Amino acid sequence: MPRFLQNPITMVNASGVVLTDSHGKQYIDLESGIRNVLLGYSQTEIVEAIRVQLQNLPYARGAHFGNEAALQLASKLAALSPVKQPRILFHNSGSEAVEASLKIVRQLAFMRRDGRTSVITLKKGYHGQTITALSASGEHYSKEPFEPLTEGFISVDVPTSAAEADQVLSIVQSNLSIGAIMIEPILGNGGIVSIPEEYLLRIRQICNEHDLLLICDEVTTGFGRCGKWFMSESYPPDILIVGKAITNGYLPLSAVIVTEKVWQEFDRCGNFRHGQTNLNHPVCCAAGLATIEILSRMNAPEVCKRKGLELQGGFEGLRQSGKVTELRGTGLMWAIVFDEAIHRKHDSNKWLQLLLLDQGFIVGQIENTVFLSPAVITESSHMQHFVERLQKAFG
Ligand SMILES: Cc1ncc(COP(=O)(O)O)c(C=O)c1O
Repeated sequence: MPRFLQNPITMVNASGVVLTDSHGKQYIDLESGIRNVLLGYSQTEIVEAIRVQLQNLPYARGAHFGNEAALQLASKLAALSPVKQPRILFHNSGSEAVEASLKIVRQLAFMRRDGRTSVITLKKGYHGQTITALSASGEHYSKEPFEPLTEGFISVDVPTSAAEADQVLSIVQSNLSIGAIMIEPILGNGGIVSIPEEYLLRIRQICNEHDLLLICDEVTTGFGRCGKWFMSESYPPDILIVGKAITNGYLPLSAVIVTEKVWQEFDRCGNFRHGQTNLNHPVCCAAGLATIEILSRMNAPEVCKRKGLELQGGFEGLRQSGKVTELRGTGLMWAIVFDEAIHRKHDSNKWLQLLLLDQGFIVGQIENTVFLSPAVITESSHMQHFVERLQKAFG
């Protein structure tokens, strides 16, 4: 934890979008945890749901028994998700859900005896930290120390137009080992880059024509943050992976949502040979249920869309002054690219993030880009205050 050791900050409590450290200093969290605490830190309804579930049924073997919380959450998710007639299995992290999805691809190839175990991914995609999820991800720096990685991934350039789906088509036509295509509809860790919808529609078509599984990793984009419940609504995937905001970050939970068609194939040929201690954990699912109830009640996708436009408007002044050169994002997930010349004046690559932290704002920074993924309850005054600080920091 080099960052913690250099600058030890211990958080002791939180309220709304404000965290307080052990010295009483307060921070406005404009990253909403790691893009998971979409509803902020004071959702007592979720806390109460966790308490009640802990009292009634703190655990049940997920692979052997049903539990009410998991069943109810599955039916809520089924109603919201773009996957047709979905079947759902709950895990504990995005990485595990990615891992399970890739195991589905491999076991299908095993059952069909067709050898189609390879997966096409995007070069700057991010899918998690377990060895196979990491192997599917793009960033060389994070992968290199862990070689040898899992084989069977072919990565293609991040597209800027639908026409680039032809590159995927030619790989599919020439390589008989391809079983699936896995995509994040908006690259989160890859810099908040939206994949053109026309490209994704074309990828859906290629998957249909070549009997491939389309896997959409919506761990970051799901549950309204980007202005829709799920970005994949118009190109329904065969496997949808969700996590992060599903419990508002209060407990670890993720889900693999597959079509009835995929599930039936397992049902016919045998079980999914996969099991973990905490599958379908009732307490995490109870937290998920309460979270989705709140998100639905407030119509989170619409609120995120509206607040995102407000946020974008707040940065227009900085863009007009030339300090900000590019704004990328949608809903409540934004990358603010600022003038390289300003960045070059500083020794540290994280100078702005550290300066803002000192001034009580939590944001992300990579080179000359600041990342913001605020909670839906973030007030306009917090954002105005932040824009003013940013303006001063740019000089
Ligand atoms: C798109 C995407 N997939 C998977 C993951 C991995 O999730 P987790 O960190 O919960 O393992 C992340 C985490 O940031 C993510 O953004």
